[in-house]
Amino acid sequence: MVRTAVCDLLDIEHPIALGGMGSATSPALVAAVSKAGGLGALGCHYLSPAQINERTTAIRLETNKPFGLNFLTFDTREDSFAAALELRPAVMQFAWARPDQDLKAYSDRAHDAGSKVTYMAGTVSEAARAAKAGVDIIIAQGTEGGGHVGWMGNMPLIPSVPWRRDGRQTRRRRDVLLRVLLSSDMGGSFFAALRMSKNLEASLRLPVVTP
Ligand SMILES: Cc1cc2nc3c(=O)[nH]c(=O)nc-3n(C[C@H](O)[C@H](O)[C@H](O)COP(=O)(O)O)c2cc1C
Repeated sequence: MVRTAVCDLLDIEHPIALGGMGSATSPALVAAVSKAGGLGALGCHYLSPAQINERTTAIRLETNKPFGLNFLTFDTREDSFAAALELRPAVMQFAWARPDQDLKAYSDRAHDAGSKVTYMAGTVSEAARAAKAGVDIIIAQGTEGGGHVGWMGNMPLIPSVPWRRDGRQTRRRRDVLLRVLLSSDMGGSFFAALRMSKNLEASLRLPVVTP
């Protein structure tokens, strides 16, 4: 099996991550991915503090493996975000911050809660911003990802994102490859079609696949 630095950083067995889809993840799906050695992620978009609490508890009843709580940053509710931090998740995940939002403040608060932080960037400048904000992992994802994320294609984007955690640039091939691996293994559409996902068959027009 492939093992990368991401596995060590997130304490997972395989560099495979479930996309934290606000409209598609269920506690059962998140727990199943984490139990299998990947990184499950609960999409918290639109969830109230009580719902985040309830769903996180349901995941933790199934597994003590790490998983993430995912927020689309541009309209994150403060009460929901604060509730998520109180649960001290292994990973807090962000994407799509508005230009006026202080990404570093979000990242710092998550780190203070003991979480690792990921940020999904669809452009080179977004990746640079995330690196400066001190996130642990940049998920460089082009427009192919989920069909609605980012404006640039994966092939030019991924090699253009050679930032290290300290915000400095590197041209070392190994670091670039690491990001290619991570990016290729962050899955959304496939997982959304599984039976354990919320019932998306009608909305996505995807066939339901039994694992
Ligand atoms: C229906 C759907 C909803 C999504 N919602 C979110 C979300 O709330 N937060 C997020 O970070 N990514 C979201 N994504 C993107 C996924 O996390 C993931 O990056 C992407 O789906 C990967 O590409 P793939 O679908 O080709 O595997 C969503 C993707 C899909 C298909």
